[in-house]
Amino acid sequence: MKKLLSIFFIFLISCTSAEVTELTSGEEIYTSRCSACHKADLSGGVGPSLKSDSSAAQMPDSYWIQTITMGKGSMPAQRLTDNEVTLVIDFIKSQY
Ligand code: HEC
Repeated sequence: MKKLLSIFFIFLISCTSAEVTELTSGEEIYTSRCSACHKADLSGGVGPSLKSDSSAAQMPDSYWIQTITMGKGSMPAQRLTDNEVTLVIDFIKSQY
């Protein structure tokens, strides 16, 4: 019985750690999924600047959502949940 219980706990632990993969802060998502191409300070690198004076900043959220989820030109689509997309856009716009 003890053995069975410990197997159950190992199972439980591996399940919960798998669920933590959804990132919960926009900053974390930006750092891990966007900053390599758009730079930590949004100024752009491989991808264009996303700063408040960029053309992207003038675009509606629908354009951002489409660009992030479908990709655009040489930007690959990012596999993020709807919630993560909202969080990362909110984070970027909170820097303006
Ligand atoms: C592999 C590099 C790469 C990653 C990762 C990446 N981008 Fe991009 N992004 C680009 C490139 C390159 C473009 C320009 C695409 C084009 O117009 O041809 C772009 C364009 C954009 C645009 C449109 C800019 C404009 O002026 O119209 C937005 C908005 C954007 N990216 C946001 C993001 C966000 C948010 C993330 C993270 C979730 C992200 N990108 C991740 C490379 C990347």
